[in-house]
Amino acid sequence: MEYVTDDYINDYLRNVQPKYDGVLGDIQREATESNVPIIPHECARFLSTLLSFIKPKNVLEIGTAVGFSSGLMSRYLREGGKIITIDRYDIMLKDAKVNIKRMNLEDTITILEGDAAKILPTLNEKFDFIFVDAAKGQYGQFFPYCFNLLNVGGIMLFDDVLQSGTICKNRFSVPRRQRTIHKRLTNFLWDITHNDALETSIIPIGDGMALCHKIKDAVMDIPKTDVLDTEDIEYTEETKGDKND
Ligand SMILES: C[S@@+](CC[C@H](N)C(=O)[O-])C[C@H]1O[C@@H](n2cnc3c(N)ncnc32)[C@H](O)[C@@H]1O
Repeated sequence: MEYVTDDYINDYLRNVQPKYDGVLGDIQREATESNVPIIPHECARFLSTLLSFIKPKNVLEIGTAVGFSSGLMSRYLREGGKIITIDRYDIMLKDAKVNIKRMNLEDTITILEGDAAKILPTLNEKFDFIFVDAAKGQYGQFFPYCFNLLNVGGIMLFDDVLQSGTICKNRFSVPRRQRTIHKRLTNFLWDITHNDALETSIIPIGDGMALCHKIKDAVMDIPKTDVLDTEDIEYTEETKGDKND
């Protein structure tokens, strides 16, 4: 993956901010060494700081991978707080279950297995914090569901929204194969920045993060579609992921 900031800035941010301790730190190191696409350290630290003042009770995550970010978020929950995390890839889910057990978080973190596009319409409870770190081409599809599932005063954080910075360039300047995702992410970013129930900021950290604060009690219409919009992302034991994810 390429990041939106220069390497020397990434190196500095990763080195100046201490790594996580305990089993969480072990999971972060193991995932990084085996190229599992967990959030980079500077984004993890941003997430930690954000959650240290939100102190959420109920968290929803789309994109569990091996459970690193879930484990991280669990450190900042209010007493009795819970996390629901969704992932659709068996290879990831197998390791996530092991890691959640290693962190003794089986009672705190619930994994829902399947495509978020199918699971989101089945959720009824409300969340104080929603972290979306999954297939970027689906963010526009997830957005109305996440908006409706978020409490007023709640925060949504979307990871990897700038596509290595190419989103900031004209669509026709990017390779043809990237134009669909460019269009989808551009539309999604327009939607979250022009919704008057949200106060949104796009932050150039990692591969770009979008932070949305729900400031009004509003409900979004869910666009009617019968088509489950999924991206073709291959996972293997060797790569455990793909940079498109
Ligand atoms: C970048 S990784 C998540 C990393 C994790 N949040 C962390 O930092 O520890 C993205 C994950 O999203 C999952 N994913 C992508 N699209 C999805 C979808 N539509 N439904 C469920 N899971 C999805 C992939 O299987 C992958 O495990």
